[in-house]
Order: sequence, then structure tokens, then C-alpha cells
Amino acid sequence: MVLRVLDQRALPTRIRWRDVDGAESARDAIKTMVVRGAPLIGVVGAFGLALELSRRDPGPEAARALAERVSSARPTAVNLPRAVSRVLDSYLRGGANEALREAESILEYERESARMIGVHGEQLLMDGDVVLTHCNAGALATVEYGTALAPIRVAIEMGKRIRVIADETRPVLQGARLTAFELVKDGIDTTLISDTMVGYAMSKGLVNKVIVGADRVLMDGHVFNKIGTYQVAILARTHHVPFYVAMPLSTLDPTSSPEDVVIEERDPKEVLYVRGRRIAPRGVKVMNPAFDMTPPEYVSAIITERGIAEPPYRESLTELLGQAQQ
Ligand code: MRU
Repeated sequence: MVLRVLDQRALPTRIRWRDVDGAESARDAIKTMVVRGAPLIGVVGAFGLALELSRRDPGPEAARALAERVSSARPTAVNLPRAVSRVLDSYLRGGANEALREAESILEYERESARMIGVHGEQLLMDGDVVLTHCNAGALATVEYGTALAPIRVAIEMGKRIRVIADETRPVLQGARLTAFELVKDGIDTTLISDTMVGYAMSKGLVNKVIVGADRVLMDGHVFNKIGTYQVAILARTHHVPFYVAMPLSTLDPTSSPEDVVIEERDPKEVLYVRGRRIAPRGVKVMNPAFDMTPPEYVSAIITERGIAEPPYRESLTELLGQAQQ
């Protein structure tokens, strides 16, 4: 048995599939961004581990080591270690079949949560809205509806006319390559801008709302998401544009503080090259943090599968989390 995943590095020009058949291939697919997006890397990590455990039944100690290998593929999104530890616990409790069942239930949870994020989030959108989104928090980052794109999809299904502005999201170009790809494919009116045009678009009144996804959200409402999210949030505040974050509760980290969260630093080549072509001189130094932190005061509301959390987030998110655990 294998999990077949779309190799997102080849999009939008080629459709290429990759098989994930165990812990190492899951780790590699996540690390090299064959698959990316917080909920999706959780699902792929869960299946990678479960498939390995069901093939080899390696016993508790080796299972723990395999789980650690998969979890550590990328450090920032909390969905990955959470999903992997759910599969490990199931294995330790009930064996390999339990581990596979747990991976399937994580997949189903993410599918259903994405749809419900859409159902709740569409209430924030009005007919005629233009929504700016950053990175890709759509079907390609999750299972089916997406997170940031789910309210847009549901609003359109309900007959609202919604247009999208996708920023390109340097350096990996998830906005240009992935968000634009999936929205255009689904016939949703989408305009691509470079990251440098966000302030211009807002200052001209071309954006009514921002919706972004998240890789990790803390109980006090600090949002860790794709690099560049923070500057979009500041611009939104300056121009009085509501800034919404959409996430499944599997992205909520109930225990960490901002200093605990590791921001992944990626290969300098992602900044130095655009689609294989070098754009900067040899000898230049490069910084390449993959995520940034947006403080809660910039976040107008957080859309989850259980409803919409408003500030103060410690209270509203605690309530939603309580409902989820009942
Ligand atoms: O580095 P990536 O492409 O994995 O980063 C993805 C993001 O930052 C997304 O906005 C986030 O994971 C939310 S996906 C629903």
C-alpha cells in the first residue's frame, strides 16, 4: 500500500505524482516540499509512519525513533508532530492496524474541518468582496476545501460574487504557482500580484478582506504563517481592511509561547534562484526564514471548524477547544 501525492514543486507547469510508502519517503516529501501546507504535511506524516509500522511492526522503541524522524522533517507547523504522535500512540496502544486507522481518521478530520471552516467563514464575506490571500492555504495545502480558501469557495457556492487577489509569495511562490493554479482551475476570478504590490492594492481600495492560513496559532492569538504574512497584516491594519486567519483546531498549539516556536530557515538557493535561474551575485549573504509571526492585535478574527474566534483569543479559543474535546 502507498500514499500517492501530487508533487507540488512541479506545479503549475507539470502534473507529477510521487509515492509515499513509509517514514523516510514521508520525511523526504515533507522536507523537500513535494507536499507542503500545515494540515497536509500532518496527513502525509501520519500515513508515512502508519504505512511503515504496518509493513514492519518494529516494536515500541523503533516506532518512537521513526516518529521522531518524520516529525522533525519541518519544525514550524504544529500539525505534523501532532498527527505523527497520534499515529504513534495508536500503534503503542493497539498495533499497526490501529495506526493506519488513526491516519485515516486524521485525513477525515482535516477534510471535514476544511469544509466547516468554509461554512463558518463565508459569513464574513459579502457579495462583491475582493479577498487577498497570501501563500497557498487551499486544497493543495489541506484536504479538499482548504483553510483560507474554504470561505471563498463556500461563499461562491452560495452565489456570492467573490474575487481573489493572490500575492505571489516569494521565495517559493506558493501564491503564484499553487493558489493561482487551483483557483483558476476552479473558475474563480483571480488576480495575481507580486508581494510588493499589496500596499498599493490596499491603498487604492482594491481589497475588502484578507484571509490567510496558519502553521501554528498560540492560545493568545499569535499567528505563525508563511513569511510575509506579518507585513500583509500591518498593511491591512493601516488600511482598515479586516485580516482573518483560517485554521483547523489541529493548528492550535495550546502550550507554547512565541519564544518556543522554531522558525524554519530554508536553503539560501530558494532566494538566490527563481525557477532555476540565479538572480543575485555570488558572495551575497542570504536570509531565508520560511515563516513569520503576526501578533494578535493585527488579527480581526480566527475562523475554525467550530466557529469564529474573536479577541481576546485566549478566551474564545479556549472555548472552541473545549467544545472540540467534548
Ligand atoms: O512552507 P509552506 O508552503 O508549507 O507554508 C504553508 C503556509 O504557510 C500556509 O499558509 C499554512 O500552512 C496554512 S495551509 C492551510
